[in-house]
Amino acid sequence: MATSPSNRDLQPDLGETINVSEAHAAMKDAPTAVGREKSLRENGMEAVSLWLILVSAVVVLVAGSVMGQGGSFFGYGELVKDDYMRGKSPVKEEVPLQPIPALTLLQKEGQKQYAACASCHQTSGAGGGGFPPLAGSEWVTGNTEQLAMIIHNGVGGPIEVAGNSYSGNMGAIGANFGPKELAAVMTFIRTSWGNNASLVTPQMAEEALKISKARGGSPTTAEELKKNHDKMLPGDTLDPDTLLDPETWEPIPVAE
Ligand code: HEC
Repeated sequence: MATSPSNRDLQPDLGETINVSEAHAAMKDAPTAVGREKSLRENGMEAVSLWLILVSAVVVLVAGSVMGQGGSFFGYGELVKDDYMRGKSPVKEEVPLQPIPALTLLQKEGQKQYAACASCHQTSGAGGGGFPPLAGSEWVTGNTEQLAMIIHNGVGGPIEVAGNSYSGNMGAIGANFGPKELAAVMTFIRTSWGNNASLVTPQMAEEALKISKARGGSPTTAEELKKNHDKMLPGDTLDPDTLLDPETWEPIPVAE
């Protein structure tokens, strides 16, 4: 029986003249050949095929987009019963802002601003120790333009207040007041400690800031005030009982 060619291939190649171990040993010194050999890793630490990583990534992406598109997969819709009622939140519901009468709002805000004045004119407005009073002062209850100029620019030199003469210096304590702060502190001192003068609105105070800016900013004097600023600030007067939005300070239309 003739030996088939394929059978012969499986037999050891007895005619082979090259010794494989010797050949490998010789190659050990050739750095290029050794470098090409893959080093063996411990079980479980073999490098993962790059294809496997790519295929996994594609599977994750496709699965994610399918779940995301369905929508309901992550939604509560299916889990929540139709007549389910959410429990009351322990957080207090926001109460709608209560309208405040103009006088109350301006006084409240003005009292805060007056903290910048109390060290000299006292909480009582009575002054003392060389500082003139604001209670019963004609500069406070008189024309509003002169009062605004005093607060916004400061005042110095001889000044007559409630029958007494003073000659000191007051800095521009209210230089940083905006229209609201200026209106509020003016209203506060005009309506406190027995003073009973009209309200000053933020619109009026805004006019005052314009006039003040035009005059330059140096401290004013009683003389200049009498000459240039002895008048009321322009603007509509505000009834003390007008209800204002405590946020915007705008009048609120009252529901009939
Ligand atoms: C550092 C002390 C000081 C502070 C703070 C101060 N003032 Fe005066 N104020 C004076 C002095 C002093 C005079 C008198 C100036 C003069 O003699 O010309 C005066 C005068 C006045 C006058 C005119 C005279 C009068 O008594 O009516 C008014 C109005 C006034 N101040 C309001 C205020 C307001 C409002 C504030 C706060 C925003 C304030 N002052 C903060 C010291 C101060």
